[in-house]
Amino acid sequence: MEKLGIKPVFVKSPSGVVSRYTDENTLWCYVMGMMWLNKSLVSKLIQLGVPAVGLSGADGKLLLAKRKEKIIIVDERGRQRVIDGGYTGKIINVNTDLMKTLLESSYVPVIAPIAVDENGTLLNVDSDQVAYMLSITLKPDYCIILLDVDGLLIGGKTVSKLKPEEAERLFKESEEVKGGMKRKLYMASQIAREGIRTIISSGLRERPIREALGGAGTHISLES
Ligand SMILES: Nc1ncnc2c1ncn2[C@@H]1O[C@H](COP(=O)(O)OP(=O)(O)O)[C@@H](O)[C@H]1O
Ligand SMILES: [Mg+2]
Repeated sequence: MEKLGIKPVFVKSPSGVVSRYTDENTLWCYVMGMMWLNKSLVSKLIQLGVPAVGLSGADGKLLLAKRKEKIIIVDERGRQRVIDGGYTGKIINVNTDLMKTLLESSYVPVIAPIAVDENGTLLNVDSDQVAYMLSITLKPDYCIILLDVDGLLIGGKTVSKLKPEEAERLFKESEEVKGGMKRKLYMASQIAREGIRTIISSGLRERPIREALGGAGTHISLES
């Protein structure tokens, strides 16, 4: 955004969570950035011989969302204000037929966290929520969430196993669970509650998926 001379705007919710505000310019940058990332991932996968197909959630209404009409923010003076929700939303439906068609033909879908609403408006949606919605509708054996740290870190160490309720308690009570991890841990525990083994692990390893399946990272499951 800075390269394009656009200033990112952040807003604070009454509960103190700071998040990016998606106005029209931000949406423009977001879609460009996400599609660049999407095609970069597809390109790497194609080089490795993986039949990847990159899509946004708008394609074939893969991710249908309801736009947030209004949001409540706390302004610089600490006063609560209601503002327009911008271009964000909550996913309400997944086109599982489209996903199944691709998967059954052995394609590997690479989905960018962009949704569309009933009017066809593009929306910025949270990637952890996308992982949750795709998981609960497609019911895979595993949901592997890759990120830039080894897993959930508490006291400097990676937590290796958690039950969903333990993950929820950490999300609610631990002061060490901050920023992006807060949401991720919550969504991961909700995925695990559906009986899907969920792993939060590093994407910076040589073989991230194999190593996650082999025990690396934080494993959240009903049997933990
Ligand atoms: N206890 C924690 N364990 C691991 N990562 C944490 C923890 N608390 C905060 N984080 C942060 O959460 C980030 C992962 O969330 P992610 O969704 O990838 O980032 P973001 O949403 O900020 O772009 C990590 O890179 C790390 O900086
Ligand atoms: Mg995040």
